[in-house]
Amino acid sequence: MIRRGALIKMGAIFVVSAIIATLVAVLIPWLPESASEEMDGIIFTYWFATVICIGIFALVAAVIIEAVWSFRVQPDDDTDGPPIHGHTGLEIAWTVVPAILVIAIGVVSAVVLAQNADAGDDALEVKVFAQQFAWRFEYDGQVMSDELVLPVDRGVEFRLESADVIHSFWIPEMGQKQDVVPGVQTEIAITPTRTGRFTLVCTELCGLGHSTMRAPVRVLEEQEFEAWLDERAEAGGPPPGEETGGEETTGGEETTGGEETVGGAQELGRTTFADAGCGGCHAFEPAGTDAQIGPALDDLEAAAQAAGTPVEEYVRESIVEPNAVLAEGYQAGVMPSTYGESLSPEALDALVAYLSEDTAP
Ligand code: CUA
Repeated sequence: MIRRGALIKMGAIFVVSAIIATLVAVLIPWLPESASEEMDGIIFTYWFATVICIGIFALVAAVIIEAVWSFRVQPDDDTDGPPIHGHTGLEIAWTVVPAILVIAIGVVSAVVLAQNADAGDDALEVKVFAQQFAWRFEYDGQVMSDELVLPVDRGVEFRLESADVIHSFWIPEMGQKQDVVPGVQTEIAITPTRTGRFTLVCTELCGLGHSTMRAPVRVLEEQEFEAWLDERAEAGGPPPGEETGGEETTGGEETTGGEETVGGAQELGRTTFADAGCGGCHAFEPAGTDAQIGPALDDLEAAAQAAGTPVEEYVRESIVEPNAVLAEGYQAGVMPSTYGESLSPEALDALVAYLSEDTAP
């Protein structure tokens, strides 16, 4: 039989342990502030499981501390402990209660998971292309962007594709996380609930540049979003025909086949630079980028001279075969060597011209 005094002591230990565990749970900001409906569900699940865990922790702490303290043996006591034949009621309780709690956590998780998989009927579809080490986004099958722009309070259905290895799509404030697997199209739904700026990060170790594989995320009011989309559709036209392998698409006033106008080629070079994510790693003044993962591209003439190669040839080689000549202080294997295949010949030519010409003194 448990003595009354022991029960009171255990009750006190239970309360103190529960308070300490609650403070640890509440005072430390374990999760970012939610910015999506899905994150609200995830945070609910987190607290549902945490409250149960705090209760169990306090109960176990109370029983262990009381047992260790009240039933400790004296240093010279070598006798055996009393024989105990178990307690059927207690055993049933400690089997049934945890089973109910674990099932409850499972049910709540399953419901939240099912809700979070559904972007709703009016969902916006955004294609996401991941490659070492950049993200690109496609809207309506035509607008390309290397910034993820989303409307607030509207479900978004992401369709994810990888060009090379496994990456993982995660915006911390929006909770949802999904692997991007080569050869498979994966999907994920997000409904942003507040406007603001966030960051999309890759959470799957995908190579030397993994930690730099990030993209800015901007959530706008619906009208602002539509205006942005219209503006991009007019400015950009269809994306350069990368990965299609077929006919170059007609963009702007550019003509297919035959001689391209200088303006058209320059425009294609500029959009290729943006769409292939070059600015994610390289500083290049004409494009207004200042990243420092790879070498700056503003003085390629000098670099080509140092390598003893004509500048256009040097630039082309550096894109198609990035490990052939390494800029001082930069490692091999960081820049993907897939651009020779992923860029169309026209886009590659235009990119080479764009980088070579604009750096001429
Ligand atoms: Cu892509 Cu890590």
